[in-house]
Amino acid sequence: GLIRREDYSAPAYRILSVDLTFDLDPAKTLVGSKLRITRDAATPAGTPLRLDGEGLSLLRCLGDGESLSFRHEEGGALIIDNPPAAETFTLEIRNTCAPEKNLELSGLYTSGGGFFTQCEAEGFRRITYFLDRPDVMAVYSVTLRADKAKYPVLLSNGNLVEQGSLDNGRHYAKWHDPFPKPAYLFALVAADLVCREQKITSRAGKEHLLQVYVRRGDLGKTEHAMASLIASVAWDEARFGLSLDLERFMIVAVSDFNMGAMENKGLNIFNTKYVLASPATATDADFAGIESVVGHEYFHNWTGNRITCRDWFQLSLKEGLTVYRDQEFSMDMAGSASAAAVQRIGDVKRLREFQFPEDSGPMAHPVRPDSYVEINNFYTTTVYEKGAEVVRMQDTLVGRAGFRRGMDLYFQRHDGQAVTCDDFAQAIADANPDSPLAANLAQFKHWYAQAGTPRLSARTRWDATAGRLRLTLTQSALPSPGQADKQAFVIPVRLGLLARDGRALPLQLDGEAAPAGTERVLVLSATEQSFDFVGLGDAGEAGPVPSLLRGFSAPVVLDDGLDSAERLLLLRHDADAFNRWEAAQRLLQELLLAALPGDGDLPALDEALVEALRAVLREDGLDAAFKELALTPPIESVIAEQVEAVDPQRIHRLREQLRAQLAERLHADWAWAWDAHQLREGYRPDAHQSGCRALANLALQMLVLHAVAHGDEVWPGRAYQRVKDGGCMTERLGALLALVHGGSALAGAALERFHADARGDDLVLDKWFAIQAAATEPLGAPGSVAPRIRALLQHPDFSLKNPNRVRNLISTFCRDNPAAFHRADAGGYVLWADVVLALDAFNPQIAARIARHLERWRVLAEPWRSAAREAVARVAGHPRLSADVREIVGKALDA
Ligand code: ARG
Ligand code: ZN
Repeated sequence: GLIRREDYSAPAYRILSVDLTFDLDPAKTLVGSKLRITRDAATPAGTPLRLDGEGLSLLRCLGDGESLSFRHEEGGALIIDNPPAAETFTLEIRNTCAPEKNLELSGLYTSGGGFFTQCEAEGFRRITYFLDRPDVMAVYSVTLRADKAKYPVLLSNGNLVEQGSLDNGRHYAKWHDPFPKPAYLFALVAADLVCREQKITSRAGKEHLLQVYVRRGDLGKTEHAMASLIASVAWDEARFGLSLDLERFMIVAVSDFNMGAMENKGLNIFNTKYVLASPATATDADFAGIESVVGHEYFHNWTGNRITCRDWFQLSLKEGLTVYRDQEFSMDMAGSASAAAVQRIGDVKRLREFQFPEDSGPMAHPVRPDSYVEINNFYTTTVYEKGAEVVRMQDTLVGRAGFRRGMDLYFQRHDGQAVTCDDFAQAIADANPDSPLAANLAQFKHWYAQAGTPRLSARTRWDATAGRLRLTLTQSALPSPGQADKQAFVIPVRLGLLARDGRALPLQLDGEAAPAGTERVLVLSATEQSFDFVGLGDAGEAGPVPSLLRGFSAPVVLDDGLDSAERLLLLRHDADAFNRWEAAQRLLQELLLAALPGDGDLPALDEALVEALRAVLREDGLDAAFKELALTPPIESVIAEQVEAVDPQRIHRLREQLRAQLAERLHADWAWAWDAHQLREGYRPDAHQSGCRALANLALQMLVLHAVAHGDEVWPGRAYQRVKDGGCMTERLGALLALVHGGSALAGAALERFHADARGDDLVLDKWFAIQAAATEPLGAPGSVAPRIRALLQHPDFSLKNPNRVRNLISTFCRDNPAAFHRADAGGYVLWADVVLALDAFNPQIAARIARHLERWRVLAEPWRSAAREAVARVAGHPRLSADVREIVGKALDA
């Protein structure tokens, strides 16, 4: 059924402490649970007690030692009609569950011969009967018993209290977590693992033990994860004054995992993808992902665990804030202002590629949703990444020091509590009473309540004689599901003004005594507002060019009203790296958009643009990473976002023509870029080296593309050589991509070689699957990718049971390869439906993720639209569908 935010009520009973014992066995695990329960003052004695439960077998249930009568609800919950009347009483439960049959990977499950848990959001109820809601926080003691040879490592949250041997080759460990926590933060691990460990001393002088657990043989790939963890601990102390609060902090890697990682108190459980890395097996992007996710989970210890969510509608309270924190961490780790700007560009790119489409589709929902059927469907890019932007705007509105004051107040007020998004924003505002946030708090909170991406348009009126510029900002918002009318947002607009010679102009608003620097933040709170800048007498006849929304100061779609000449000026001179990148992207995007109607070819790029791009590519002192981002045209799905009826084939064709022109016109420059960015020193995954490799890889792609078009074999030959003997995975993979995306005849042989060299390494095999799923449809022989994906589903290395495999093959195909997925023969759609249904039989969470790839069928032009709709309808019509998938396809088909 539908769960509504407005229906929240406080729990009638709470759990003070819980004592758990596990006799671990893959087929049948015995769980003993002793709960100290207390009745709320407002709850009459004798009120029935309802405990969540799912797929469990109950063996016994005692209240204060007496046996109790009970019944079960349909979904498996346990109802005790006559609980003990005492205000506080003890409930003893014994039940069993079947970890090896648990293919949903929620609750207690087996993977690679070990036991692991995933309890967020509602997995604990699949382990034992409980009040499985985040506002019930208990102190946990846990005893694990298992076969010693098979499961030498026994872990749970908190501190190890005791361990020893038992009869029959079994052993035990007892853990105690002193911090009260909701059930979703419980974890246990029992497996044959090894660990890298490191002792650290905190600023406060306390000793802590950090451990990273992996399977035997993977220890050599844990150095980066450990370094990232150490850096995370130091960063949170330095930036937010937050220290590690446990003696021991553990990370455990597991290969079957539905998400990226999980912040269980003191015992983070990670997808191997975000732990294991070596230069030979992981790309620079993988290294960066590890740093970011290790940081993210660690930062949750304060933003999520010490202060948690009152209910799941408040998910962004912890996720938006923690994404904001991990983004800031990565920016600080990048080591320079320009590398931090590159990091920011990457974050905004992701927001636009994933969150903007979500916000304009059938699953659009506010950062704080109002209702859900299945909470797992709401671990979305809106809750996470847009939520982070909403936190970032609060930072912008109160300033960095003000934000720190706000965070301090938040912890002072709410440490140990389960709270709401309102509590967070209130703390930030209260700590900054004179800020524009405090002045507009109620209105600012529309960001939490209204779905959809607002449009912001900017127009200027220049009075050369008076040296006066009027900037008029207008905002509007389109309707979204369940929200027809929107109220105005509070939009912070960071800006600067440039003279036509590139100078930064002083910013003085009419009525101000003096200019306030060359950059400032305007706050738009009305639907339309004008700002008059004065003292611009030396800006010249044509007047200043505004550089708006610097650093992407608000998650909006900006219509800046600028022409190409003005964009070229920003590309060349803007002091804000983000807006320089933005100018390049818009110039390229507008070419594609202008050519879309009709069926002609992309016109030749004009010389001014080519010259400007060349200047960026060759500019001394500019980060290579920035150059790579600026010279890569927006991806097809971002172009598709801008049009009414999407023709994926046409967009693909035009973008390929754009790539071909860039390869042709900048040929000598690409050859230079390749040479100039070869690294001679040892591998480091830092911003400088990653940037060089990224740009060299782009150059190689362009050179191979050019060579294939001209029948020249030198560059494809070099790329093939790189696949074989590249110095690191980033180089080898870059060369492989150049061959596959360049349509080289060597692509097949290179893929085979890459597979052989993978030697069964799961994360490398994932890449092998992903590359084939992303392979460009050869413009000459279209229709070849979908059949190949179907064949790969049968490959001995493929399994639907492993979420990473599914994501790398299926999501890459459906999401990153629109021209191959959207075909008139509907082959991609049929494949999609087959996979969704097959997955839904055992892992609804992953099935629902895959189901989302076609939710926006409505934006397609014919014949794709009808064919896609039919595939969605076929899934929706399946007789046994999970609530997860039903919610997605139901919304997709709804008017
Ligand atoms: N809290 C985790 C994180 O963001 C994600 C867990 C999501 N789990 C789920 N079943 N939806 O770090
Ligand atoms: Zn998180």
